[in-house]
Amino acid sequence: MEKLFFAEANLVNEGRVETGNLLVADGRIERLGGSFPAPAGARVIDCAGKWLLPGVIDDQVHFREPGLTHKATLQSESRAAVAGGVTGYLEMPNTKPPTDSAERLEEKCALAAAGSAANYGFMLGASQEGPTGNLEAVKALDPRRIPSLKIFMGSSTGNLLVDRSDLLEAMFRASPVPICVHAEDDRIIAANLERARQRWGEAIPPEAHAEIRSAEACLASTRKAIALAERTGARLHVYHLSTADEAALFSPGPVAGKKITAEVCVHHLWFERGDYARLGNRIKCNPSIKEASHRAGLWKALGEGRLDVIATDHAPHTVGEKSRPYLEAPSGLPLVQHSLAMMLRFVQEKKLTIESVVEHLCHAPATLFRIRERGFLREGWWADLVVVDPTSSWTVARENILYQCGWSPLEGERFSGAVTHTVVSGQLAFENRRVNPAVRGMRMEYGPQGA
Ligand code: DOR
Repeated sequence: MEKLFFAEANLVNEGRVETGNLLVADGRIERLGGSFPAPAGARVIDCAGKWLLPGVIDDQVHFREPGLTHKATLQSESRAAVAGGVTGYLEMPNTKPPTDSAERLEEKCALAAAGSAANYGFMLGASQEGPTGNLEAVKALDPRRIPSLKIFMGSSTGNLLVDRSDLLEAMFRASPVPICVHAEDDRIIAANLERARQRWGEAIPPEAHAEIRSAEACLASTRKAIALAERTGARLHVYHLSTADEAALFSPGPVAGKKITAEVCVHHLWFERGDYARLGNRIKCNPSIKEASHRAGLWKALGEGRLDVIATDHAPHTVGEKSRPYLEAPSGLPLVQHSLAMMLRFVQEKKLTIESVVEHLCHAPATLFRIRERGFLREGWWADLVVVDPTSSWTVARENILYQCGWSPLEGERFSGAVTHTVVSGQLAFENRRVNPAVRGMRMEYGPQGA
């Protein structure tokens, strides 16, 4: 493996920005910071004026393999990920078949080993088929090899709902890994949908999604998840908060000390209800994009340290599927290639600092899931890196979108701040606006550092 020498970079790491060099050898960071000479034979990458960050770790993506490969594959979406500076991802179990057993987890890992450009991890999906669902598979999870258990406490794409209280409680008590939940209350949603049908018949407008998948539905389910975690002592991570009311339920403070944490997704920080008029079902997702007041509440909670991880819930569907009428259009939007660019926009607007972007997109997911030797710039740790030129401008357009579905809700958006290089486990996976098709990511591991 060729040695890589990143010269005079603005290294963004652990709350600081310092100019220095970084040397990569044998997949790992061999030397970090200060001015030292490039060793003979190393490839020198000039980073003057650029930021060098730990690679982004996206803790919630849907890459659709196996079974939904008309929408996306592990290969297509992981290539989009590295083009956007994402070097690792945790992928969701609502594939076809769902990832609800140890065998299916290993099958997915084998697919990723063959095709993924980024480092990967897969979650077991909780299921409630039969008297105790897949509780035995939950109990048997190896916490060094599997990052988390995913529970859909509200239904979304796929059929992995768990809404039986006894089973939820048993899973919260038994899980040897952190539990990530999708929290929306199905009963409230069903009643809202009935009301919308009475008002509009089958021609429900997309913006009604904000009322159907309502703030009340999110709050009720998130409250339930938190109460369950408090009662059982489970390690709970609530995914994609979309309301001000839910966000206020979480404690401020560093992620390392918390047993109950929260994720916010880039689209809930970016879009608001008024955007349905322009984008319609393209921004239909679960939980829904809601009023600007909820977006403001999420920003406030982020500033207070109540929201820990920023991720995407990258959920691609084809243009054809998204062009159907509201009731038939699937929920979800493709975002993994653009999350870092969106956050850099917020840095320019002074809503975030570059250090806090690194905290929420890189450090926090690594700490929360105890991802071994990744997510930080540290000597001896894996070299997962992204170099950003803050002055380089580009526009999101069909020709630079790498998602297999070929569209983005951000088409036409002009960004200043471009990824110039992405390094995955020491390999240059992206440079000169090209993904290196030969690069393969690694299976991530979990547990105490240095163990
Ligand atoms: O909008 C969504 N789409 N939310 C989810 O929870 C699932 C996802 C998907 O898989 O399409």
